[in-house]
Amino acid sequence: MNNKNWITAPVPMGSASCVFAKTVSLKKPLESAALSVSAIGLFEARIGGKKVGKAVLTPGYTAYDKRLQYMTFDVTDMMSGEARIEITGAPGWAVGKLGWKAAGKTYHDHYAVTAELSLCYADGTAETVVTDGTWEVFTSPVLFSDIYDGETVDYTAPITRLGNATPDATCEKFPLVPQLGEDITEHERLAPVSLFTTPKGERVLDFGQNMTGYVELTYCGKAGDRIELSFAEVLDREGNFYTENYRSAKNKIIYVSDGTPRVFKPRFSFQGFRYVRLDSYPAEAVEPRDFRAIAVHSDMARTGRLVTGNAKINQLYHNTVWGQKSNYLDLPTDCPQRDERLGWTGDAQVFCRTAAYNYDVRKFFEKWLADVRAEQREDGAVLGVVPSGVVGAYTRVSAAWGDCATVIPWELYCAYGDKQILCENFNLMKRWVDYQHSAGAEEYLWLGGYHYGDWLAMDAGPDVYMGATSTDLIASAFFYHSADLVVKAGEVLGEDVADYRTLRENVRRTFRDYFMENGMPKEQFPATSFNDKGEPRDPFRRGVTQTALVLILHFGLCDETERPALVSKLVELIEGFDGRMTTGFVGTPYILHVLTAAGRTDLAYRLLFEERNPSWLYSVTHGATTMWEHWNSQKEDGSFWSTSMNSFNHYAYGSVCDWIYGVAAGITFDERAAGYRKFTLAPHPDKRLGHINCALDTVCGRIESNWYYKGETVYYEFTVPQGTEATVLLPGGYTETVGGGTYHFAQ
Ligand code: BGC
Repeated sequence: MNNKNWITAPVPMGSASCVFAKTVSLKKPLESAALSVSAIGLFEARIGGKKVGKAVLTPGYTAYDKRLQYMTFDVTDMMSGEARIEITGAPGWAVGKLGWKAAGKTYHDHYAVTAELSLCYADGTAETVVTDGTWEVFTSPVLFSDIYDGETVDYTAPITRLGNATPDATCEKFPLVPQLGEDITEHERLAPVSLFTTPKGERVLDFGQNMTGYVELTYCGKAGDRIELSFAEVLDREGNFYTENYRSAKNKIIYVSDGTPRVFKPRFSFQGFRYVRLDSYPAEAVEPRDFRAIAVHSDMARTGRLVTGNAKINQLYHNTVWGQKSNYLDLPTDCPQRDERLGWTGDAQVFCRTAAYNYDVRKFFEKWLADVRAEQREDGAVLGVVPSGVVGAYTRVSAAWGDCATVIPWELYCAYGDKQILCENFNLMKRWVDYQHSAGAEEYLWLGGYHYGDWLAMDAGPDVYMGATSTDLIASAFFYHSADLVVKAGEVLGEDVADYRTLRENVRRTFRDYFMENGMPKEQFPATSFNDKGEPRDPFRRGVTQTALVLILHFGLCDETERPALVSKLVELIEGFDGRMTTGFVGTPYILHVLTAAGRTDLAYRLLFEERNPSWLYSVTHGATTMWEHWNSQKEDGSFWSTSMNSFNHYAYGSVCDWIYGVAAGITFDERAAGYRKFTLAPHPDKRLGHINCALDTVCGRIESNWYYKGETVYYEFTVPQGTEATVLLPGGYTETVGGGTYHFAQ
C-alpha cells in the first residue's frame, strides 16, 4: 500500500473521533473491489453505513514507528452504484495514553488515516480511489476515546462538516506493512449473573467472569439520558466496588442518548473487568438482560481441551484459558485493565508453551515476533516490553524477559514443526545470545545488569517484587539455555553453529565454576550491580533457592550424578516452606516438570493440589475466574496485595497448564520430530484428579489422552493420528511405540 495518501482532520481533534468520507460512483459493472486501510491510531471503515470486516480495534498494536499494519478487505459485495465510504479515526494505542509513565502522546500527536480502494471492472479495466484532500470530514458522536480511559459517545452532539481532509505527510515516517497477525474479533457474549447493591449503595452488575472486552447495552430512554459505567475486576473485603488497581486508567464509558433506541458498545477502547457499576443509569428499572459483556481477543483457533474429575483443577484450567483470551489481544500482554496492557516479554515467554497447547498461536506470535525483531537493539538486546514505545526507556534488559527471543521461536517450532519460524527468527535468537555474551563483566557469564529477577517470588519475604535468587545466577543460567536453543535451532536449519556449541560449553563450565561447589549452588554471591545510591540492585543474591535449583536441573547445568542431591535439596526447601513453593515468574513454569523428571510426581501433585498461599489453588478457592498477578493478590483477610501493582488477570502463573497437558494428561511433542510427528503419551494418573479427558489438535491431527480410575485400576484410552508415531509410557515403565489408531490399556 502506498504511504503517500495520509489524511487527517482540518482542525485538531484531540481525543474526539471524526469521520472521513467520500462517495464513490461506479461507472461500469464491477468484477471485484478491495479496500486497504490503515491508521496511525485506530480506524473503523464503513461502506453504505455497514461496517467493513469483523475485526475491531484495527489496525492493531505494533511498533508503529517500524511496522504499521494495513488491512485489506474484499468489499465487492458492499459496493453498489453510489457507495459512501466512511472511515472513523480515533487515538488508540498509537496516539492516546500508553504505559504507566506516559503523560501525553506516544507515537504521534494526532491520528490520521489512509485508504486505497481498488476497483476492477468486468470489462478488464481498473480504477483506484485513494484518500486525499477531496475527502470530507465530519464530527462523530464519539467525543472522547482512549484505550485506558474509556469512551464518551454523545448521540445528541450535532454532526457537523469540518471541511475537507488535510493531506498529512507527517505520517509517511510510519512504514506500512500488510497485516500479519490474527484479526482482533468479538467472541463470547456473557449475560450478567447478578445485579446487586453494594454496602456503599452502588448498583453493580456481575458478569461472573473476569475478562477483556466491553459491555454492550440496549437502551431505549429519552433524549439527553446519560449513562455512565465504571469497571472493576474484584470487590473489596467489604463487598464494595474496587478500582484502585487500575491505577491511572479511568476505564469509564459514557453514553448520551438521543432518544433513539440503540445498542451501544465502545469501538475504540476496551476494559478488563468482571463487575460494572452503573454510576448513572436514568432508566426507571435496570434490566440485566439489556447488558452483555463481549469478550474481545485475537481470533485464534482453539486447539487444546482438557477436563479432569477435579472441579478446582478444572477451574484453574478455565482461569488460564481466560487469562490467555484476555491477554492475547493482538499481542501478548501482561494484563488487560490497568495503565500497562503492554507486551511484557517475560510474561509472554513463560506462558508460551501453555498458550500453544490451548490455541493455535502461530500467526499471533509471528506478528509479535516481527515487532521483537524490529525492536531488537543494535547490540542484540531485547527490552522488557515490545513494542516498547514511550515505556521502552523505563524497562530493563532483563534475563528471562529478553529470552523470549530464543524461547518463543523454539517453542513454536516444537509445537508446529514449521522450520520457517526458526528461519525467520534465527538471527534474532543468535543476536540475543551475542548480547548475553557481551553483557556481563565475565566473558561466559552474565554478571551485573538490571534484571527483574524471579519476579514476585515468595522467598525474599512477604510483599516484595524481586525474589531472593541471585539475578546473576538467573541471567547466566538463561544465557546457557538460550545458547542451547540457538544450537538446537541451528541444527534443525542445517546452519553451522560450531561457535555457539563452544560458547554453550564455555558458559556451562564457567557457570559451574562460579555458581556451584560440589554439585550444589553456593549460598550467596557478591553484588555486581548498584543503583545511584550505591546499593546493590539485587539485595539477596542467594544460590540455594527453589528457583536456582529448578533452573540448574531443568536447563541441564548439572551433571547427571549431581541430580539426586540437587533434587533432595529442592524437596528440602519445599518441605522447609511448609510443603509449598516460593518460586516467582522464573521458577514457577518449570518446578513441576523438574519434580516429575526426578520421579517425584507425587510431590508435583501435592504442589498442584495445595490450597494455602502460595499455590495455584489459592486464587481458585478465593473465587478467581482468571489467573492473578500475585499468588495472593487478595489476601486471606480480603485485603489486597497492594494498590500499585495488583492485577487479577495476569496469565504468567497459568504456565502450570503445560504440566497438566504434558504430564498429567501426558501429551508432549518430541523436539526431534517437531509438530507432533512423533510424541510421547506418558500420562501420570492421580486419584485426586479422578480422570482426564484431553484432546489436542495438532498439525498432524487430533491426539487424545484419556484416563480414569475404576477402583484401583486405571484405564487409558489414546488416539494417535494417522501418519504419526507415539511412544506410550505408562507408570511402572510399560513402553510401546504405536502408529495411528486408538489404543486401550489398563493397569
Ligand atoms: C508487569 C509484569 C512484568 C513486570 C516486569 C509489571 O508491571 O505487569 O507482568 O513482567 O512489570 O517485571
